[in-house]
Amino acid sequence: MTDEDSGGGSKRNDLMEKIVSLCKRRGFVFQSAEIYGGFRSTYDYGPLGVNMLRNVKDAWWRSMVQERDDVVGIDAAVLSPPRVWEASGHLANFTDPLVDCRSCRERWRADQIDGVCPNCGSKDLTASRQFNLMFSTNVGPVADEGSIAYLRPETAQGMFTNFANVVTTARKKPPFGIAQIGKAFRNEITPQNFVFRTREFDLMEMEYFVPPPEAPRWFDYWLEKRHSWFIDLGMPADMLRIRHHDEKELSHYSAGTADLEFAFPWGWGELEGVANRTDYDLRVHQEASGERLEYFDQFTNERYFPYVIEPALGATRAMMAFLIAAYDEDEVGGEARSVLRLDHRLAPYQVAVLPLSKKDTLEPLARDVLKKVQAHFMCDYDTTQSIGKRYRRQDEVGTPWCVTVDFDSLEDDAVTVRDRDTTEQVRVPVDGLVAELSRRAEATAS
Ligand code: GAP
Repeated sequence: MTDEDSGGGSKRNDLMEKIVSLCKRRGFVFQSAEIYGGFRSTYDYGPLGVNMLRNVKDAWWRSMVQERDDVVGIDAAVLSPPRVWEASGHLANFTDPLVDCRSCRERWRADQIDGVCPNCGSKDLTASRQFNLMFSTNVGPVADEGSIAYLRPETAQGMFTNFANVVTTARKKPPFGIAQIGKAFRNEITPQNFVFRTREFDLMEMEYFVPPPEAPRWFDYWLEKRHSWFIDLGMPADMLRIRHHDEKELSHYSAGTADLEFAFPWGWGELEGVANRTDYDLRVHQEASGERLEYFDQFTNERYFPYVIEPALGATRAMMAFLIAAYDEDEVGGEARSVLRLDHRLAPYQVAVLPLSKKDTLEPLARDVLKKVQAHFMCDYDTTQSIGKRYRRQDEVGTPWCVTVDFDSLEDDAVTVRDRDTTEQVRVPVDGLVAELSRRAEATAS
């Protein structure tokens, strides 16, 4: 879907502007080094963004590791020596085709621009050359050839280089997986669309090692599993689609890849990739390191390289997609409001505790309520402005439940719980508040 296809281009640009502005205004995402004019498409996550990003990662980890007995986690180093990337093929192949515009000197990815400079319209472009996307640095006090190290462009290699360690220590046999969440770095030629494509991002990857004949079945399994993860977290099914790569699109290690695509405001774009990496990585690392990376099956007495099925998702890209999918505008009591209809597991705050008035008389009970709820949910505590304005503020950042402490609360030891989506308000005894909020949370999570 392109803007032209559906004629809704300006509306969608508008949506993107609203999301970017909301992210900045409310503390989700800031331009990095903003006081120095910003730094080349890098972003910082503010008080609300850091909560939400953590929730995205937690939801992934829960589904990929915690709720399974066939997947374990690791946390590998960001820096690694050239031998890892020589063997993996990234030094030779992790490249994009780069062209320069001779008129305005902008640089572009040749495969994204159709022979015309998007900046000045010139067709006077250089021939394309391959540009390696890995960042290098020097480790130790002497910067020479021997001290070069690379910042990982994917977390996956940490799973392959630790394959034997994990098999031995976790006593796992195929089919089993190793999962990891961590920073990845790519010197993208054209970072763009806010946090969609950045040079530094959080990546969530799982390498699932299987007996080779089972690879096609597990590929289908993980594609379906990853699709339903998004749906379960509230993403509308019509904003997701699956697209299989054709042969010439495949990465150097892949025998088959499918993208889960999301309906971004500018059109369909990759959200997550699921790849069949075959036995490529274990084979090349065994060859290069001389260490045995085959799996030895004690029952069949066979030694083999497992195939790998890999779901890989950018946490920051996923957070942006969830924000876009959740953004809505409606009217409450004749007034326009903007609301993020986020699943409570993703919302930066699940609960806001709001004393009706700033008067000291309400504060002790309100703080008492806050303490009780904080033990179970991430909470905001807000005493400023009218209660109506505070509700709007919480709606705008996606807080599913507001708990209001009023003067009656001092008499009846009860509070009002307001639902973000229906705006319905019910009175709940303070004693039963955590149970009521947990009941609501379970109801949306099931
Ligand atoms: N190990 C496989 C791999 O890294 P990929 O398709 O290059 O595959 C996986 O990346 C996911 O990481 C993408 O689907 C996307 O969600 C995210 N991603 C990739 N490049 C990114 C970038 N420059 N900025 C933000 N997210 C990115």
